[in-house]
Amino acid sequence: MDYVFKSQSKEATLKLGRSLGNVLQGGDILCLAGDLGAGKTALAQGIAAGLGISAVVTSPTFTLIQEYAASSQGKSLRLVHMDLYRLQHPEEVEVIGVEDAFQIDAICLIEWPEIAKDYLPEDRLDILIQGSGEDTRVLTFQFQTEGWQKRLEQVLSEYPQRG
Ligand SMILES: Nc1ncnc2c1ncn2[C@@H]1O[C@H](COP(=O)(O)OP(=O)(O)OP(=O)(O)O)[C@@H](O)[C@H]1O
Ligand SMILES: [Mg+2]
Repeated sequence: MDYVFKSQSKEATLKLGRSLGNVLQGGDILCLAGDLGAGKTALAQGIAAGLGISAVVTSPTFTLIQEYAASSQGKSLRLVHMDLYRLQHPEEVEVIGVEDAFQIDAICLIEWPEIAKDYLPEDRLDILIQGSGEDTRVLTFQFQTEGWQKRLEQVLSEYPQRG
């Protein structure tokens, strides 16, 4: 299934991210795809805010993986933010330990996830952000399970700009 959301500004993308962050739970894996400057990190910043993280979230382009302490519904967990842009070969996904982050107490956000496709579980949320510069962004959320559908309905009720 998929849902389409539209965002007219960075602030709107942050707001959508916050609503999404509010419904996330440990074990969730979110793949954020889209060209350079599409708004993957902006969405990640909103998600982090929704998870009660006050640290500044930037693209972990040089560190590849950045971890934050988070909380969701009173439970403490980790937000693991990855950016795989600099990887050249799928084997590097194993070397840097992408799969090690798939733990029940961690929410994983993966920017530039394409190179890791063979390592990703089916139960995940794929988000494609289209548009750049000052364009309106079109965010397509794709998922396979009812669990994601229920949670995204909740996001939709807080952020009605649906495409
Ligand atoms: N609707 C929008 N949503 C998100 N960002 C927007 C929007 N409109 C304009 N922008 C601008 O687009 C840029 C998005 O940058 P961001 O770092 O989030 O992109 P990215 O997809 O993570 O890029 P990279 O692949 O380089 O990591 C910011 O400069 C932001 O101000
Ligand atoms: Mg980024």
